[in-house]
Amino acid sequence: MARFLALDSDASEGAVWRLRGASSNLRYTTALERATLQARQEGLGRVASTRAALIPIRKSAEWWDMAQDERRLVYERGSHLPIGLDYLPGVARKLYHSRDLGENFDFLTWFEFAPEQEAAFDHMLARLRACAEWDYVDREVDIRLTRGIA
Ligand code: HEM
Repeated sequence: MARFLALDSDASEGAVWRLRGASSNLRYTTALERATLQARQEGLGRVASTRAALIPIRKSAEWWDMAQDERRLVYERGSHLPIGLDYLPGVARKLYHSRDLGENFDFLTWFEFAPEQEAAFDHMLARLRACAEWDYVDREVDIRLTRGIA
């Protein structure tokens, strides 16, 4: 499992994008929630997962100004985890943190799924974006990828 994700186009002249993130400890997940996740999720790299989404996300200053317990409350009230669990194991995921690296985005989120799961994935996005937690998302870019047949 990659600990770092670096999509670095520094080498090419005129580069506009550089995305870097590191995997980190859990911030908002209880032991019980982690066990539930572990029982239901599957890892990255499944043969059938020929589609992926890379979604860099930035949260607002208001979010970062809150105390940890206040952020957990918003996360919890928005049902981020219960919504996400509805789409496992169809969607496999990985979260990278970028904020402490001084990046433009706070997080790089990565998802892999089979083509027939894409509509469900889009439905999950709509549900998450309707949550109060997303009121604190001030920038989000949805990049979709398809793996070709080698
Ligand atoms: C596939 C289903 C999903 C599940 C099971 C899931 C689960 C989780 C969990 C458990 C956390 C908390 C990690 C921690 O304790 O620090 C988390 C954080 C996060 N998730 Fe999801 N998630 C899912 C989908 C998504 C999607 C589709 C997005 C973006 C469009 C997303 C964006 C994020 C972000 C940005 C965080 C970090 C929040 C923060 O630290 O402020 N998640 N997710």
